[in-house]
Amino acid sequence: MASKVSNHLDPRTRAYAEIWLDGEKVSDSLDPGEEVEPIYGPVYLPRKFKIGIAVPPSNDVDVFSQDLGLIAIVEDGKLKGFNVSVGGGMGMTHGDTKTYPQVGKVIGFCTPEQLIDVAEKTVTIQRDYGDRAVRKHARFKYTIDDRGLDWFTAELTERLGWALSEAKPFQFDHHGDRYGWVKGSDGKWHFTLFIENGRIKDTDDYPLMTGLREIAKVHDGDFRLTANQNLIIGGISPRKKKKIEGLIEQYLLSDGKLNSALRRNSMACVALPTCGLAMAESERYLPSLIGKLEPVLEEAGLRDEEIVIRMTGCPNGCARPALAELAFIGKAPGKYNLYLGGGFAGQRLNKLYKENIGEDEILDTIRPIINRYAKERLPEEHFGDFTIRAGYVKEVRDGQEFHAV
Ligand code: HEM
Ligand code: SF4
Repeated sequence: MASKVSNHLDPRTRAYAEIWLDGEKVSDSLDPGEEVEPIYGPVYLPRKFKIGIAVPPSNDVDVFSQDLGLIAIVEDGKLKGFNVSVGGGMGMTHGDTKTYPQVGKVIGFCTPEQLIDVAEKTVTIQRDYGDRAVRKHARFKYTIDDRGLDWFTAELTERLGWALSEAKPFQFDHHGDRYGWVKGSDGKWHFTLFIENGRIKDTDDYPLMTGLREIAKVHDGDFRLTANQNLIIGGISPRKKKKIEGLIEQYLLSDGKLNSALRRNSMACVALPTCGLAMAESERYLPSLIGKLEPVLEEAGLRDEEIVIRMTGCPNGCARPALAELAFIGKAPGKYNLYLGGGFAGQRLNKLYKENIGEDEILDTIRPIINRYAKERLPEEHFGDFTIRAGYVKEVRDGQEFHAV
């Protein structure tokens, strides 16, 4: 279904296929006059538009961060259809409270046969009503928030000529990946590797890149990048499983079990030196910050407690920090805003707790909260839920409350 939606909505333009060398067009496979964009027309969309499909109980694509999120409803092993969520998005700008991260809202249910139509009509509503004048206000989330969810649903119904049915019940348990071996419904095997911040390289004690290269030589399936920066060695036939298992062992490739649960649930954007928009370090810094938090967790008996921690070098939100239980967004070199209270299953945004703090203050701030969490938490209570119950931050039920004091 993901491929079908993607193929249907792909822009038809081949403008990007032009090749220019030393100021001259050397490949001219395109006659722009012949180009037809049946959905986007001559003006495309005002801004990026993201679509993701999640299959409960796993919300591993952070479905509520998507402009259009689809929640698969499976009953008795059969795909019944999708709950439709609209208007999620992460990016904001420091100091501009008119910008905010938002979670998508579930507006109804459609069958697999209706899905393409729903996706196309949703995109055309953003095409026609999205703000093309103010770039920071151009994402679909603002189109929906400004006009209201009822307006959107009515507009969608009119364009479809029929209404979505009532959303079906669903339950998400987590928004991380399922590490290690999983057997697919087609009998093939998949191994999800923990890749810290998505960086594949060899180090003295961890030959990750070499190991993957050796696996690629014999692998008969594919490699898939996950939305949580990990890697799935996917579609392994039963015949090849033993061989690949051997290589995984030989090169010590990790399913994350040897790491603390905090590290397994961590994610950082690339930031410096790759990203020109970064205000602070992220990928190169988060691993060492986690190294300083681990002893605190260890002492509190929480080494295996899953806490979702994310960091970005700026508020554009490429590592989806607004949905983490514990998050850091770069403000200046060495300085971060600290956020608490996100939902463990990616269902709730977090909230600003402290502004513009460096490492010492970060550790001094988090240590007592973790210690209190260890002592006072309710059975099964997640860290994000606890920080709200204990009064550190207010619950954010909607992105429009994100900046509220
Ligand atoms: C390296 C340079 C990069 C730049 C300059 C960049 C730029 C941006 C910008 C400007 C936004 C805000 C969009 C908005 O709010 O409308 C954004 C959001 C985002 N980017 Fe990146 N990005 C970079 C790398 C990446 C990478 C490598 C990934 C993942 C593979 C990524 C994933 C995301 C996600 C998930 C969001 C937030 C969700 C959303 O609001 O759409 N970015 N990025
Ligand atoms: S969040 Fe900001 S710093 Fe990080 S990669 Fe995205 S744009 Fe760059």
